[in-house]
Amino acid sequence: MKTIMIHEMPDHEGETVRMGAWLANKRSSGKIAFLQLRDGSGFVQGVVVKEDAGEELFATAKGLTQETSLYVTGEVTVDERSSFGYELQVKGIEVIKAAEDYPITPKEHGTEFLMDHRHLWLRSRKQHAVMKIRDEIIRATYEFFHMNGFIKIDPPILTGSSPEGTSELFHTKYFDEDAYLSQSGQLYMEAAAMALGKVFSFGPTFRAEKSKTRRHLIEFWMIEPEMAFVEHAQSLEVQEQYVAHVVQSVLQNCKLELERLGRDTSKLEKIQAPFPRISYDDAIEFLHKEGFDDIQWGDDFGAPHESAIAESYDLPVFIMNYPIGIKPFYMQPHPDRDDVVLCADLIAPEGYGEIIGGSERIHDYELMKQRIEEHQLDASAYEWYLELSKYGAVPHSGFGLGLERTVAWISGVEHVRETIPFPRLLNRLYP
Ligand code: 4AD
Ligand code: MG
Repeated sequence: MKTIMIHEMPDHEGETVRMGAWLANKRSSGKIAFLQLRDGSGFVQGVVVKEDAGEELFATAKGLTQETSLYVTGEVTVDERSSFGYELQVKGIEVIKAAEDYPITPKEHGTEFLMDHRHLWLRSRKQHAVMKIRDEIIRATYEFFHMNGFIKIDPPILTGSSPEGTSELFHTKYFDEDAYLSQSGQLYMEAAAMALGKVFSFGPTFRAEKSKTRRHLIEFWMIEPEMAFVEHAQSLEVQEQYVAHVVQSVLQNCKLELERLGRDTSKLEKIQAPFPRISYDDAIEFLHKEGFDDIQWGDDFGAPHESAIAESYDLPVFIMNYPIGIKPFYMQPHPDRDDVVLCADLIAPEGYGEIIGGSERIHDYELMKQRIEEHQLDASAYEWYLELSKYGAVPHSGFGLGLERTVAWISGVEHVRETIPFPRLLNRLYP
């Protein structure tokens, strides 16, 4: 008898197979038991009919408790009522370990309770679906960048520099030196782009940000592409093609998961390049027309502002050319204006906020030196970075996409805490 996983069942119709599984849930009457089985690769219903199974097997099935681990044998049959399309006619059950009093029951639990049991909550159907979508986004990311000639590069996590400002750094001792957990790999990716042309990174980043919103994590994962000889307009094209590729890949490869999450896929089907572009100036004017009198030219947008702008579009929207005063030191000034920089934030539809921050980078040595001084950064920590604009400087651009916000948007889950296996939040390091 063949041992298979649930996702392989379509290839074994009519065969009797063996599987390792957990009991996710169970329904039974005097004559029939329905076992909801899961093995990580999927969920399937096992059917035990008393008349066919016999007293002993039926009693075993009826006595199974939630999250008991077992080996099950049975025949794979077609089940047109379920979206998976198959079920298992159970012929044998071998309990590995009975689970007693599993804390997460099919009833409603509060968020804090679920977060305290994240190590178990991950087993639930909804969390399973979100993790599969996260994996598909990662897969499609590597596919997109490798298809387009990018090379994967891994920047360090322990660093001495801080690309995105010094206020949100996690500090640690590095023997006798001070070090920080990386808030962005960008500066290292710029060095890598000068060596390898087009590069991308994917790794954890850290922000000691005291924000407690549905969009903020303390530890989150970022994809950071960096491209030599690429100016800002061309970088925007890469961004929109990348995001469209990721969304279309999820639509194609995660149908069951999107259905389980109740995601309105018609909204995702529309996500194709190009995306609309609006200047920061026009965005401010738009907000004033919409009655937001709490924001002035020069201010950064808050979540309500971003959502109001995004609501006018079905597609993600680029907000371009922000005031120089609210953006990091490395951004290239606009060629015709000294008050804005060549950058864009990409705002996701449906209120999910900024998913990408990107810009053209300064490549003029004197200007970069001046900007580092103006931002009062520790010059000695940036010596190596300055040398990039000293030796063979070229125009270059890049961006960072926040994985968890992207997963939240595509999955349609409200809060980023459900988009990463073990979220680190303000006041949460457990489990
Ligand atoms: O806009 P940010 O801060 O940009 C950078 O770090 C650049 N150095 C990237 C680059 O050009 N290479 O962050 C980029 C993205 C944001 O658009 C957002 O999606 C995500 O990272 N992000 C967060 N996600 C979750 N929690 C947080 N606290 C986040 N902060 C940023
Ligand atoms: Mg940003």
